[in-house]
Amino acid sequence: MHMDFDELIKARQSCRKYDPEKVVAQADITASLEAARLAPSANNAQPFHFTVCTGETAKQVAVGVQTFGLNKFALDAGCFIVVSEGRYGLLGAAGSKIKRQDYRSVDIGLAVSYLTLKATTIGLATCILGGFDEKALQKLLGLKDRVRLVVVLGYAAEDYPIRPKKRKALDDLTDYR
Ligand SMILES: Cc1cc2nc3c(=O)[nH]c(=O)nc-3n(C[C@H](O)[C@H](O)[C@H](O)COP(=O)(O)O)c2cc1C
Repeated sequence: MHMDFDELIKARQSCRKYDPEKVVAQADITASLEAARLAPSANNAQPFHFTVCTGETAKQVAVGVQTFGLNKFALDAGCFIVVSEGRYGLLGAAGSKIKRQDYRSVDIGLAVSYLTLKATTIGLATCILGGFDEKALQKLLGLKDRVRLVVVLGYAAEDYPIRPKKRKALDDLTDYR
């Protein structure tokens, strides 16, 4: 599917109704992860790890992202990418201490942004999830590091529309000095 950048950022939306019958092809998962791999990160540290969950594991992840009645739609999705935080190397740790900044969540956000945009170009529907039971996911997947985000990958249900974006006005977000 060819989309220019403006079309792409309108087409990428949080999908909350998945077709439970359609399975995401491995090649499409790989292509989405490849895009994430090429995202920029502070000191090029790439402090993230992607745990791809399909099949029975996906069913358990879907349960692990149920919080406060949110994310019920995930129960129909067959593929989740659980993004955990990698450890900083020496340079990253020193840089972050000196600057009093922790760039790891920023880097994860950028990687997930690339991932979801690439996925959109190949016809996948996505939803970034920040609501999940971190301990349950760590235990399920044997992860020792912090889990920061979960990305749902799938196909939108047939009647699912592309919504117009609801965003703050640019004036409210911007200043020129
Ligand atoms: C860090 C982060 C966490 C999010 N967590 C959830 C979530 O747990 N459940 C959900 O349905 N949507 C979640 N979203 C999706 C946002 O609600 C969504 O991006 C926002 O409302 C804008 O809508 P759009 O993505 O359709 O353009 C999350 C998005 C981000 C970036």
